[in-house]
Amino acid sequence: MRKLLVILAALALCLPLALAEDKTVTTFDFESGVPGQFIQSGSAKPTVSTDVAHSGASSLHVTGRSGNNWDAVDLNAAAMGIKTGVPAKITAWVYVDSDEAGTFVIAKSDGDYATLGSVSCPGRTWTQLTADFDLNQPVNLRFQNSYDSTGWNNAEYYLDDVVVEVGQAEESTEPPIDYKSDFSAGTDGWYARSGGGAALSVTGDGALLITGRTATWNSPGRDFALVTGKPYKISVWVKQDQLKDPILMVSIAHTRDGSESYENLGTVVAKQGEWCLIECSYVAGRYDKNVLYVEGAGAETDFMIKDFTIAEDIKTYGKEGLPSLKEVYADKFDFGTAVIPMELLDEERMAFYKTQFAIFTPGNEMKPDYLLNPSQSKIAIKKTGDQTSVKVSFDTCIPLLTWARDNGVKVHGHTLVWHSQTPEEFFHEDYSVNKPLVSREVMLARMESYIQQVLEWTEEHFPGVIVSWDVVNEAAADSGRKLRDSLWTQVVGDDFINRAFEYARKYAAPGTLLFYNDYNSEIPLKALVTRDIMDSLLADGTVDGFGFQSHYTVGSTNLFQVKVALKEMAKRTRQDGSPLLLRVSELDVGIAANDEANWKKQADFYRELFELYEQYVGQLIAVHTWGTVDDLSWRADKFPLLFDADVQPKPAFYALVE
Ligand code: XIL
Repeated sequence: MRKLLVILAALALCLPLALAEDKTVTTFDFESGVPGQFIQSGSAKPTVSTDVAHSGASSLHVTGRSGNNWDAVDLNAAAMGIKTGVPAKITAWVYVDSDEAGTFVIAKSDGDYATLGSVSCPGRTWTQLTADFDLNQPVNLRFQNSYDSTGWNNAEYYLDDVVVEVGQAEESTEPPIDYKSDFSAGTDGWYARSGGGAALSVTGDGALLITGRTATWNSPGRDFALVTGKPYKISVWVKQDQLKDPILMVSIAHTRDGSESYENLGTVVAKQGEWCLIECSYVAGRYDKNVLYVEGAGAETDFMIKDFTIAEDIKTYGKEGLPSLKEVYADKFDFGTAVIPMELLDEERMAFYKTQFAIFTPGNEMKPDYLLNPSQSKIAIKKTGDQTSVKVSFDTCIPLLTWARDNGVKVHGHTLVWHSQTPEEFFHEDYSVNKPLVSREVMLARMESYIQQVLEWTEEHFPGVIVSWDVVNEAAADSGRKLRDSLWTQVVGDDFINRAFEYARKYAAPGTLLFYNDYNSEIPLKALVTRDIMDSLLADGTVDGFGFQSHYTVGSTNLFQVKVALKEMAKRTRQDGSPLLLRVSELDVGIAANDEANWKKQADFYRELFELYEQYVGQLIAVHTWGTVDDLSWRADKFPLLFDADVQPKPAFYALVE
């Protein structure tokens, strides 16, 4: 566990833990939840279990498989630094819950799905599996039974003590490629790929023509010294006159240890008699030779290519001279965002985020599902007989807290008490879902202990970093003037909210701001419930503010209702006479499609919202978007954020900084 902490901390700093051999070694012992790097594949569900373990008390349990060997668990390779061309070694212990013997493998989860390591073993026996490899494709890794061990396709399995060693990629001495074809003085290094017969010639208008083809792979091709692991952008114009709507494509033939293999990179419907553009991208694998070529159409179709380009796809975050959200709003409120572990692993990305945002929230990593450790709590009860035992572990939030501390930025904690993303075991005797729910007294003691440990540990290890907390999240019902029915209301009663704030106030460092946070709080009836909750907490004197989650959608969110909700909430005062604080805690604005017309509507919506927010300067202390880039949003299909998948500002960004 210590080791894991050190490594997580090192990852958070984005300094690979430089061992003697320049390797980063990460051990997963699954003692405290499913690490974010492990992702579900197919119908499988990875959870942590104490049924069997290779060491310690728990292991990673893969259940819910539905008859496919790819119902499995994947390792996010990029998040571990296992990129194309980087040497890596994985050792893992596997236990397959089956009467049969079979073969268990570590394989690529995409691309050519190649097996990287395998082991044959009997059922119900811990067996060690090793894969020593470097990837030639940018893919994740999958732990699964082999294709031919079909008897295991429904079997649950366990993994434990997974050790991932990641080495360093070889530095390339090749100059970066930035090539554009020029056929003015000949074929420019292009040659005809065919068994004989096909030939290239330069046409009058600067294009390259291929004739004499007898197979669809007969093509104009050219060798390129691609650098392993580097991303490239490729484009080419193509034209054919003979067929109606054939497909032409850019492909690559790569050779490794003498054997050639192929990938199709991009296609176009080559309309008869028209120049058509093919654009595609490719991350270079580790190969000795790479040939890019254009193929397809009919076996005998003549076609032309021109303006073939290939250049390194250099990632830039934001743009030079981009205005900064946090600076534009500095004298009004803190501009914040939520981050996920994958983003934290990307040093340059985080450096850019730091220029834009003043406060950060963990997207998931401080929720009870991540901090509460049911298996350790269960063990503690077994030892002491004390049902109020609560064990917590902080592995998941250390990367963000470390980064925030080292970069001098603030963190908003999210969230102490919630009906969702909270282990169900928390509410049961012996932390066992088959046993009855605990009494109100035991549950309150567990809640107090949890809140105390989380607030005290974070303050002790990262003093001053967390400036505010969502103490209770989403307690209002979606319909009816009442609280949501949940295990909290069932076991404790409606005052669970008041008790949570009482404990949070008791253990929070002085000056830490405590918020109640909810969604749809502009919908009239729900608005009433959130005000009822706030009034009760204000009477107790335990709350500082209200958080409007603000997950909106262009076309369905009613901005007038948002205005009313803000106005009504803003009327409230705290016991000392100061106004109730407000925060927009999880703003995102969904749109129907990722196109210019919708970006404009989204920009208008964001602009109107911020005009409203500006009326509450002084009382509204922070506005956080729920994430930064569309592709990593929890509503990625709605493109709701200020930056696109390439970390480039969208019209909505400009609407807020202009
Ligand atoms: C979301 C996260 O963004 C997702 O990654 C996760 O799968 C589910 O939770 N209201 C909240 C947030 O308070 O915690 C939720 O975050 C979004 C809705």
